Order: sequence, then structure tokens, then C-alpha cells
Amino acid sequence: MVKLRNVTKVYRTGAFGGGKLKAVEDVSLSMEQGKVVSVIGESGSGKSTIGKMILRLISITEGEILVNDKDISKLKGKSLKEYYRTVQGVFQDPFSTYNPVFKADRVFDIIRAEYFSDMKAKKWREKVESSLQSVGMVPEQVLNKYPHQLSGGQLQRLLIARALLMDVDVLIADEIISMLDASTRVDVLNLLIDLKDRGLSILFITHDLSLGYYISDYVVILYRGSIAEMGYTDKVFYNPIHPYTRMLLTSVPRLDQKWEESEEELMETQEIAADSLEDRCKYYDRCHFAAESCGKPELKKVEEGHYTTCPRR
Ligand SMILES: Nc1ncnc2c1ncn2[C@@H]1O[C@H](COP(=O)(O)OP(=O)(O)O)[C@@H](O)[C@H]1O
Ligand SMILES: [Mg+2]
Repeated sequence: MVKLRNVTKVYRTGAFGGGKLKAVEDVSLSMEQGKVVSVIGESGSGKSTIGKMILRLISITEGEILVNDKDISKLKGKSLKEYYRTVQGVFQDPFSTYNPVFKADRVFDIIRAEYFSDMKAKKWREKVESSLQSVGMVPEQVLNKYPHQLSGGQLQRLLIARALLMDVDVLIADEIISMLDASTRVDVLNLLIDLKDRGLSILFITHDLSLGYYISDYVVILYRGSIAEMGYTDKVFYNPIHPYTRMLLTSVPRLDQKWEESEEELMETQEIAADSLEDRCKYYDRCHFAAESCGKPELKKVEEGHYTTCPRR
């Protein structure tokens, strides 16, 4: 239902927009109904850029994004508004979405004004309440409160509830767990799994490998804007191929292993001029296995439902 085809995003940078930064390069992936796809990568790898393009918050430089077979870059006015009935996003920092001087449920009023202005007050109230219940909240406990009276987890759930006021099929969840403390993290994760079981497709954006493992059906490992490896979660986690994925996995602390015992593949950074990297794998300068023969990478099939740009082990 959501399909990215060779999507590239170049930002203009610098005071006069003279510089260019390729934040996402040639990314192709699909999301299916009732599945969670995680986009995992370190800070700056282009994860949010992918989410923002799907949400039409920024333009696509090259390639296309199809949602239910429609090219979303063409949507305007009314059709764009309709688009947001089915595709919604929730972002990292719940506190920044709320204005401290207004009650938290004001975020719902904005949706009402945009999409449900004809709805009677009583009916609207019922809709809000049922949406709050569907994210496991007791309406009386959260309505009419100011943001500072609610926890981070509650504010984040409120935003998910807001997204669910619409008939959403697709939820873009950009680092929504990161700011929460450990106890509420599990609640929000389990809520997402519950929503997925009810048929929602979720793009779960995270820098945290273990969160990606916990929640997703399919994972996409992003490195400097390009896909290094992707596939069904078990395939990528139990049979990681790309040296970057392997490095990420060995650097996750494991409870059953002491630090000294862990199999380390820490990479020595090689001194290579940036321009000579142009036709190389983006991981070349950090890679343990880098060789003269490493050219511009292409995604290749490792096994059914598992792809990587690097065949080395
Ligand atoms: N509006 C923008 N203008 C210029 N560069 C940007 C903009 N947004 C993001 N970038 C750059 O694009 C790259 C990818 O950013 P982002 O998608 O936010 O990564 P992530 O979410 O993985 O941390 C980074 O180098 C970032 O600095
Ligand atoms: Mg981000």
C-alpha cells in the first residue's frame, strides 16, 4: 500500500542554498497492511527525511512514493487533505507539540476544525473518548488537563489517539519511544503492536536496534541515506550480512554476555578523501572488509525476503 520507488532527497544547504546534501539516496521499500516496518539507522542517516516525504511535509527530489497506487507528489488541496485522513505521523518529542498555556486536548480541536466541523458536540466528544479508550486511556483522567499535568507517555498516547480520530491506514511513528522512560516505553510499544493487529500499517523509525527487533515484521537498515540491508526481521537479525548491520548488532549490550566476551568487529576508520568515496559503498571508510573491488553498491538478494548491498561476511 505504501511504496517508495528509488526515492532520493537532496536538501539545499548554506545561506544562499548553494550547497547540496543528499540525505536519502535511491531508497525503495514497501509497507503492507497490518505490518510494522522499522527504519533503523544512526542519527543523520535520513530516517526522518523518509517519514517526512511520506507525510508530504517535504518534497521528493527523485523517484516516487505511491500510496494505494497513487503518486502522492501530485496531491493538492482537497485531495491532500483527504490523504491526511489515511496517513498520519507522530513524532519524537511529545512536549513540543503541545502549547503549555492551553489544555492538552486542544490538539483534538484542531482536527475537529479541519475535518469534522459539521459534527455535533456530543458526537465529537464520544469520538474523542472512544479514540482515547482505544489507546488505553481513561478519558476523564486526561481531558481538561494541561500538558504539565500529564506524563510523556500520556502525551504521546494522546497524539496517537489524535491520529486515530481519522480513518488512518498508515502511521508514521518517528522515534516516538525515545523520549519516554522505560516503564511507559513498553506500554506504547505494545499499543503499536495492538494497532497493527487491528490492521494499521506502521513505519517505525528508530535509532535503537532492540526496539526495531521487538516491534517489526520487516526492517530496513539505513546508512548515510542508503539501504545497507533489509528484510524480514528474523532474517536480518539472525543472519546479518552487511558489515554495518553486524557492527550494530555486536554493539548492542547483551545481558547474557560480559563486555570482554562479545565478538567485536570494531572498525578502524581509514583515511580516505571524501571525493574518492563517490563511487564506493558509503560504509567503505569504516569497513573492516573494505577492498579495492568495493564499487558502488546495489541491493542484492541474499535469500527470500532478505537483501543487502554487501555480500561479504
Ligand atoms: N531541512 C533540512 N535542510 C538541510 N539539511 C537537512 C534538513 N533536514 C535534515 N537535513 C540533513 O539531512 C540528513 C538526514 O537527516 P534526518 O533525516 O533528520 O536524519 P535522522 O532522522 O536519521 O537523524 C542530516 O545530515 C541532516 O542534517
Ligand atoms: Mg530523525
